[in-house]
Amino acid sequence: MKEDALKWNKRHTDDVMPILQSDLLIKFVDILPLGRVLDIACGNGRNSRFLASRGFICECVDISSVAIKKLQNIQGIIPVCLDLDEYKITPDSYDVILDFYFLDRRLFDGIKRGLKRGGVFLMETFVADKDYPIDISEQKILYKGELEEIFNDFEILFHDEIYIKRLGEKTKALQFCARKKSK
Ligand SMILES: C[S@@+](CC[C@H](N)C(=O)[O-])C[C@H]1O[C@@H](n2cnc3c(N)ncnc32)[C@H](O)[C@@H]1O
Repeated sequence: MKEDALKWNKRHTDDVMPILQSDLLIKFVDILPLGRVLDIACGNGRNSRFLASRGFICECVDISSVAIKKLQNIQGIIPVCLDLDEYKITPDSYDVILDFYFLDRRLFDGIKRGLKRGGVFLMETFVADKDYPIDISEQKILYKGELEEIFNDFEILFHDEIYIKRLGEKTKALQFCARKKSK
């Protein structure tokens, strides 16, 4: 959507997003099958830059042309500016799929199909917790147990809730890692 692109272009111009790769990714990098990565709503590419430096080929998709421009001419990174509302993930194509702080439930089916057998999905985003309310639309917040249910035919390697600061407020996020079964 055009308004989303404008909103996110402004944020990426102001450089307000975190720049360090996720500690979830650091924890699991050594078990990821080396190969092709899809980084959904990659932003400044903090996670793909880390994987690209380790030999992965990362397709980085985001609606923000500002964010995508900053990812050009980096070895191992293929930047693509697109709206995920209109995107279909190619089946059986990726060894790793990343989805950090972007929740669009319509993508889950494509994520599951898009991974090759043995491929790994890593996600980190806000999770509902009545003690830590967050002022973003409910649509963009996971409910407890949601990913475990959706990925119940995967091997769930890790799930944990963490505290993070958003706009100065303490809130909760889920870290999740699951592998598509080989058979
Ligand atoms: C909170 S940021 C997360 C960025 C990155 N994954 C990270 O963790 O650093 C959300 C990202 O989603 C992108 N985005 C928002 N709506 C989108 C859409 N419809 N299609 C593609 N990207 C979108 C924004 O441009 C932004 O970079």
